[in-house]
Amino acid sequence: MEGIESVLNKRERITLSLRALYVRSGYAPYRMSKFEEYDLYAGNKDFLVSDRVITFTDTNGKLMALKPDVTLSIIKNSPDEPEKTRRVCYDENVYRVSKGADGYREIPQAGVECFGRIGEDEVFEVLSLAVKSLRLFSTDGVLALSDLTLLENAVASLGLPSDEEKRLYRAAEEKNLEEIARIAGPDSLLETLLKLGGGIEEALAVLKEIPGKTDGFLRMLERIANSELKDAVRLDLSVIADTSYYGGIVFKGYVKGLPEAVLSGGQYDRLMRRMKRSSGAIGFAVYLDALERLGTENAAAPGETWLNVALPKGRLGEQVYRRFAAAGYECPSILEENRKLIFENAEKKIRCFWVKPSDVAIYVERGVADVGIAGKDILLEYAPDVYELMDLKLGQCRMCVAGPKDFQDDPSETIRVATKFPAIARAFYQSEGRDIDVIKLNGSIELAPILGLSDVIVDIVETGTTLRENDLTVIQEIVPISARLIANKAAAKYKGEMIEALVKGLKDNEER
Ligand code: PRP
Repeated sequence: MEGIESVLNKRERITLSLRALYVRSGYAPYRMSKFEEYDLYAGNKDFLVSDRVITFTDTNGKLMALKPDVTLSIIKNSPDEPEKTRRVCYDENVYRVSKGADGYREIPQAGVECFGRIGEDEVFEVLSLAVKSLRLFSTDGVLALSDLTLLENAVASLGLPSDEEKRLYRAAEEKNLEEIARIAGPDSLLETLLKLGGGIEEALAVLKEIPGKTDGFLRMLERIANSELKDAVRLDLSVIADTSYYGGIVFKGYVKGLPEAVLSGGQYDRLMRRMKRSSGAIGFAVYLDALERLGTENAAAPGETWLNVALPKGRLGEQVYRRFAAAGYECPSILEENRKLIFENAEKKIRCFWVKPSDVAIYVERGVADVGIAGKDILLEYAPDVYELMDLKLGQCRMCVAGPKDFQDDPSETIRVATKFPAIARAFYQSEGRDIDVIKLNGSIELAPILGLSDVIVDIVETGTTLRENDLTVIQEIVPISARLIANKAAAKYKGEMIEALVKGLKDNEER
């Protein structure tokens, strides 16, 4: 076997080093088939990252699936033994729809599951293993840790209707403090919790003084603060998982140089209940394909001390740039008349690039830009996994349903809706209990009802001129829209101070 390392490729080396860590820590390797009965997923769709599962019929006519998840199979195939602690590890491929594209992807994962009798020792053990997994690849690995109980208590204490609670959870996930203040009022407990971002000791001092925390979580944080995990764990209440499956501690792991979480896990006791198990469970998965990209330098974003900014090309972008410049983030070459797309200010270490407005969120989500400015319309339509840090109050307009002046809605019929924003249109009509036929167009939406292609449109109305000049009118307003400052979640971990200074600069400048 000597010299075998030299013939391993990068993914194999990553996989083997993780397996060695888990096996040495007492976790038994678990092998499973690529296929699973579809029934297992049908009842647990929200647990899956994507609800689209590849299915086929086996030789006996049974509906089968290519596994989109590992945890469900491990639990299904294990006996219910609440007195025993079982520890298993795996490295397997799962099959999911890739975000933003319609193709399926084969995603290699490694991870551990610990279930049965789970006490604080076992939870701490799994957290340690998560940190060790990250630190195998980077001395800067960070585990962002949250307690869903704390979050649920903070939300429930407000006594809001369930749709507002849902918006609060989404706002918490986006660290959208302005939206939280709008729904929960100023200085809410939720806002205090989301602002906790520093070290564990600092967070502990604040947590001790507030309601809604559980003693168990405080004890866990104290234990972390007194251990070698101290510098690797940060409290981050924006880490959220589906509360019908997870309860208690949840976490995501980051390593410097990668734009997305490479590890994700938590306590899934509620999933265990749903699967008729009488014990607790905690586990995590490491995304091997993400880790594999570590060390491949990002051409657009070299150097960790630079702040990379995606600006939306066009009139809004120019207004935004003026706000940045006024706040001290100027990049003068951007004003030169040419067709360049990237502009740098070496002194201030700022790199700006013009991108198509609807693409800003993609650049930020994928981490080639640390921050960007995107319209709320795009954020609502694509729901990118980014932080929404500030409403710049520029580019203000409204998302509306509009149609011919004489349009008579017949609620018993399926309404035909032309739009550039199918997700927004669907969500809106779903909330009204209406069935719709969405016609996705890319521009000149107003033509659709005029030519009889649709009954109404869902589109942006700014001055109202386009509607007026085409004999159309606003039927219903859906949501106000404006430009928002968004940030990549990993960049917020590693360039947090730079991003906070930018937000402060833009806010101070707004107030003047
Ligand atoms: C947007 C929108 C409306 C128009 C509204 O179109 O789709 O058509 O602006 O602005 P108003 O209320 O001030 O008239 P855009 O200019 O982006 O062009 P598009 O038709 O190609 O989408």
